[in-house]
Amino acid sequence: MKMDFMGVHHIMTDRITLNYEVSAEDFTRAGEASSDVKKKLKQMGVEPSTITKVAIAMYEGEINMVIHAQGGQINVVISPDEVLMKLADRGPGINDIEKAMEAGFSTAPDNIRALGFGAGMGLPNMKKYSDEMQIETEIGKGTTVTMKVFLS
Ligand SMILES: Nc1ncnc2c1ncn2[C@@H]1O[C@H](COP(=O)(O)OP(=O)(O)O)[C@@H](O)[C@H]1O
Ligand SMILES: [Mg+2]
Repeated sequence: MKMDFMGVHHIMTDRITLNYEVSAEDFTRAGEASSDVKKKLKQMGVEPSTITKVAIAMYEGEINMVIHAQGGQINVVISPDEVLMKLADRGPGINDIEKAMEAGFSTAPDNIRALGFGAGMGLPNMKKYSDEMQIETEIGKGTTVTMKVFLS
């Protein structure tokens, strides 16, 4: 007889909200918010391939806040259907979003490139690994990137 073990299925009933302050002062801390979300999704039993998508998309957005925008705030809402990430900064804004989305395009200066950043693959990978992505930006005011990864 085939048995069903209801107990092994993780049932998420509540939504979980996580808020992070991203500092641009300390490069050694860049990526802390995305690794914390990754850890929490793992504890919740989310599928590894889904965790990878969230981790890559959020890490790239977080790094952009650090290297291009003096940091900012990240708000993550994990609900039964999706992981919603909102990354808001008060940086310089993005002049030409289409250009910024091109693989290899980067305005990162030499000192940032010397640290290993500035390959120009962040935004293309955020687009690739998220299921939905939206950029709102205003020159001199800041940028908000909203990404969603669906949980299957
Ligand atoms: N949050 C942001 N604020 C201002 N500019 C940004 C932001 N994110 C991305 N950009 C601009 O878009 C370009 C491309 O971003 P990305 O693909 O992540 O490449 P990289 O970060 O390696 O330069 C950046 O070089 C920068 O000019
Ligand atoms: Mg980047």
